[in-house]
Amino acid sequence: MTLQSGGLTIETARFQELAASVAEWATACRRHLHAYPELSYQERETSEFIAAELRKIGYQPQTGIGGFGIKVVLQGGKGPGRTIALRADIDALPIQEQTGLPFASRKEGLMHACGHDVHTAVLLGTARALRELQPELTGQVVLIFQPGEESAPGGASLMIKDGVLENPHVDAIFGLHVLPSLTVGQMGFGDGPRMAAPDEFDLTIHGKGGHGAHPYATVDAVYVACQVVNALQSVVSRNINPFDPVVLTVGSIHSGNKHNIIPGEAVLQGTVRTMSQPVREQVLRRIQEVADGVCVAHGATATLEVRTGYPVLVNSPGETALARAAAATVLGEGNITDMAPSMGAEDFAFYLQERPGSFGRLGAAAPEDRERAGLHTPRLNLDEGCIPVGVAYYLSLVQDFLRCP
Ligand code: NI
Repeated sequence: MTLQSGGLTIETARFQELAASVAEWATACRRHLHAYPELSYQERETSEFIAAELRKIGYQPQTGIGGFGIKVVLQGGKGPGRTIALRADIDALPIQEQTGLPFASRKEGLMHACGHDVHTAVLLGTARALRELQPELTGQVVLIFQPGEESAPGGASLMIKDGVLENPHVDAIFGLHVLPSLTVGQMGFGDGPRMAAPDEFDLTIHGKGGHGAHPYATVDAVYVACQVVNALQSVVSRNINPFDPVVLTVGSIHSGNKHNIIPGEAVLQGTVRTMSQPVREQVLRRIQEVADGVCVAHGATATLEVRTGYPVLVNSPGETALARAAAATVLGEGNITDMAPSMGAEDFAFYLQERPGSFGRLGAAAPEDRERAGLHTPRLNLDEGCIPVGVAYYLSLVQDFLRCP
C-alpha cells in the first residue's frame, strides 16, 4: 500500500521508508501469532515468541510482568530525557475462525478476532525500526506487550501492579486498536471519554415457591423478575441526564423448571455501560433501589452483586493532539478522522488513570473490502497494510514526544 501525505517532508519519507523496511518481517510475525492464538492469561507461547523475536533484534526483554507481559526499554543515544510508553495487547478469543486464510488459526475454537496479533506486529515492527532512530533520540521508549485485555481483571491492571510504568518513570502512554470499518491509511483520534466502563451485575430475586395452581400462596419470583426488568428501564429514561450516555441491558433471566411450579427464585444478569464515574455510581445505586422497591411491593427481596469492569477510557487532550499531529505527519491531514465514542470497553483505560496518554484507531480495511466483518466475528479479515501505517505513526509519535521539552 502507499502512504499518502500532504506535504511530504524528508522526515515523513524517512518514517515511511523505515516502516516499509520492517513490514515484511512484522507481517510474518503477525501471521505466526494469528495461526497460534491463545486466550487471555494463557498467552505462554505468544509471550515466548515475542520475547524471542525481540532478542533476535537486539533487545533484552523483561518477561513475566503481570503474568505473560513483556517490557522493553530503549535508551536514546543522546542521553536521558522524557519517557514514552507504547502498548500492544496480545490475547485472542474463543471463536472458531472462518476466514479460510492460509495462516488461519490452527487452534480449534480460538482466533485472533480482535486484531491483537496486528497490534503486536505493529509494536514489534516499531521495536525493530526504532533501532535505526536510537542514536538520535533523547529519552527513553518503553514497549509494553500486554496479556489479558479481553478478560477481567484486565492485564493492564496486573502489569501496572507489577510496576510497568516505573523504572523508568513513564511520562505518557499511547496505544491503538485496529478498526475494520476504517480504511487502511487512516487513523482516528479523540480526547475526553471515548470508551465505556462495563460493569456486570447478578440480581437475585428471592420469593416463595409453590404450586402453579395456587399463586396466592406464593411470592412468584418470575412475576417479580418481569416487574424488575421493566422498572429498570426507567433508570436510563427517567434518572439519567439524556446527555450522559448509558446502556443498561438485562441479558439473561433464569428461573423455574416446570409448567406448574411457581419458582421461589429468579436470577437476572446484565451489563451497565457508562462514560463517567458519577453516572456509573448513580446507575448502580439506582439498580439496587429499583430492585429493592419493586421487591418490597411484592413481598420479595433482592440481592445485587456487581462486578466492576474496566474504567472509562479518557484520552488526555494534550497527548491526543500530539498523537493526531504525529499521525498527520505520516498519513496526511486528510487521513485523520475523529474517533467516535464507543460503548465498548478497553483495559488501556487503566494506564490512562495513571498517566496522560491517548488511545487511537488504526484503519484496517482494504478499500475494496465490502464485507468489513467486525471485531469479535469469525470472518474478521484485517488488511495487513495497516502494519507499516501503525509503525510509521509510532515512529513519528516517539520522535515528536521526545523532542518536546
Ligand atoms: Ni481488542
